[in-house]
Amino acid sequence: MLDVSAIDSFYGETQALFSVSLSVEAGEVLALLGANGAGKTTVLRSILGLTRARRGDIRFQGRSITASATHDIACGGIGWVPDDRRLCPTLTVAKNLSLGEKRSAFRAWTLGEITEIFSPLKYLMSREAETLSGGEMQMVAIGRALLGGPGLMLFDEPSQGLAPKIVDDVMTVIRRLKAAGVASIIVEQNADIALSVADRVVVLSQGHVAWSGEAAALNADPALKRRLLGGLS
Ligand SMILES: Nc1ncnc2c1ncn2[C@@H]1O[C@H](COP(=O)(O)OP(=O)(O)OP(=O)(O)O)[C@@H](O)[C@H]1O
Ligand SMILES: [Mg+2]
Repeated sequence: MLDVSAIDSFYGETQALFSVSLSVEAGEVLALLGANGAGKTTVLRSILGLTRARRGDIRFQGRSITASATHDIACGGIGWVPDDRRLCPTLTVAKNLSLGEKRSAFRAWTLGEITEIFSPLKYLMSREAETLSGGEMQMVAIGRALLGGPGLMLFDEPSQGLAPKIVDDVMTVIRRLKAAGVASIIVEQNADIALSVADRVVVLSQGHVAWSGEAAALNADPALKRRLLGGLS
């Protein structure tokens, strides 16, 4: 579904990613882990064309998107749940959700499927987004991306600061995406949450890929996990 090949990304003259490669197949969950400032968000921003990869190539379904406009990348079927959620604060929940609707080659979730998992949203449709709790905002951000018909979902720290019940609901969404053949990349500070759903793992350190492999291999090797993830797990 996605092939990122040896990308270098920069903020001005500061290089944030150094020859980063990763790939994710349809129906696969990739956990992208690493300490603060390791470059996790920059990988997602590079896939979306928000921070340009100056070298290397990014392919979505075999087609290079390295130089594509962000709106074309989004319409191609890449859904984004940004770490800061990016809701329109003075619009209602219903309006914020509908902003995610677009034509896509992939199946869009229905509002009914979204509120079945995130049931509080049913009663919040007419509320302005700025009045929501952090967890409610996260439900809207995820629902908005699902309404767009993603073939690949990019989650940036989806569990950060959320109550355990909402984290469970987010994991339910990720498992359903997997069952439907949608690929996901989950950026997480909390490695154990990500490892509970991930098939494969990429660990970033200071903009470099420090390790990549099967989630099961990392889960089965506590010493490796400690060395790579330290305080993150
Ligand atoms: N807008 C920006 N301008 C300049 N440098 C930036 C900008 N955003 C990020 N960086 C730098 O790029 C590097 C990677 O940052 P990035 O946000 O991708 O890390 P991260 O792994 O997502 O960290 P966190 O866990 O804190 O979200 C860091 O050194 C950071 O300081
Ligand atoms: Mg980040």
